[in-house]
Amino acid sequence: MDNNAPIGVFDSGVSGLTVAREIMRQIPNERIVYFGDTARVPYGSKSKQTILKFSRQIIRFLKTEGVKAIVIACNTASALALDDIEKELDIPIIGVVRSGASMAAKATKNKRVGIIATEGTINSNIYKDYLSSIDSEITVIGKACPLFVPLVEEGMIDDPVTKEIATRYLNYLRNENIDTLILGCTHYPLLRNTIKEIMGDGVTLVNPAYETAVELKTLLKEKNLANIKEYESASVMYKFYVSDAAEKFSRFANSIMPFDIMPAQQINIDEY
Ligand code: DGL
Repeated sequence: MDNNAPIGVFDSGVSGLTVAREIMRQIPNERIVYFGDTARVPYGSKSKQTILKFSRQIIRFLKTEGVKAIVIACNTASALALDDIEKELDIPIIGVVRSGASMAAKATKNKRVGIIATEGTINSNIYKDYLSSIDSEITVIGKACPLFVPLVEEGMIDDPVTKEIATRYLNYLRNENIDTLILGCTHYPLLRNTIKEIMGDGVTLVNPAYETAVELKTLLKEKNLANIKEYESASVMYKFYVSDAAEKFSRFANSIMPFDIMPAQQINIDEY
């Protein structure tokens, strides 16, 4: 495998960019091919069977780009598809869930951890299972927040409506005496300020993106896959593909990335 080959990163849409930007920050000399499944978002309310089918198609596409490793930058797909796909693949693959769980286990002092995520992730109980396997004394309290995704997609990040909805969702967790809260959906770090304000300073917010990038860096080193070449320009290092609405994706990406991205290209993911 060529060490200069890119890392494939995929998500149900735009928000996996929060994971991609963390990888870019921590390992700037790794090339990235990002795929956002903007035609089929949201994943959060879909069945395991559907998420597996979508994930397999995306991985087939990413492999045509010659990727050397894959990061599932979507909690729902990590929760529902990673275990099956890992067994089928001949290149390394990681998701965001394991990283988020181990970060939360390190952060909690009172062993009461909250998790907010999509319905798919919450109902899979995957965060609960990982956290219990790390420390059986940890109690996990989950809450699905399905309206957060459309609010972020609509750009209503600092909107009073978002604050009102967040208050309703999070009141449940505020009464549970948690000291750590996992932002278990890639959209939620974009609502970090609102969530922080409601939960207060006594609750540590965990963004799995950070630990995912740490885990990826270690994995590339272990497998002798780390790129030895230096960072070039963003336009050389990063490529963005979507399954729909490329212009809208590029606008959103430019609003959250520290540089202007090359226009995203639309592909027909059903061909893969
Ligand atoms: N990216 C998805 C996740 O992290 C959230 C959006 C969706 O429902 O597709 O779970």
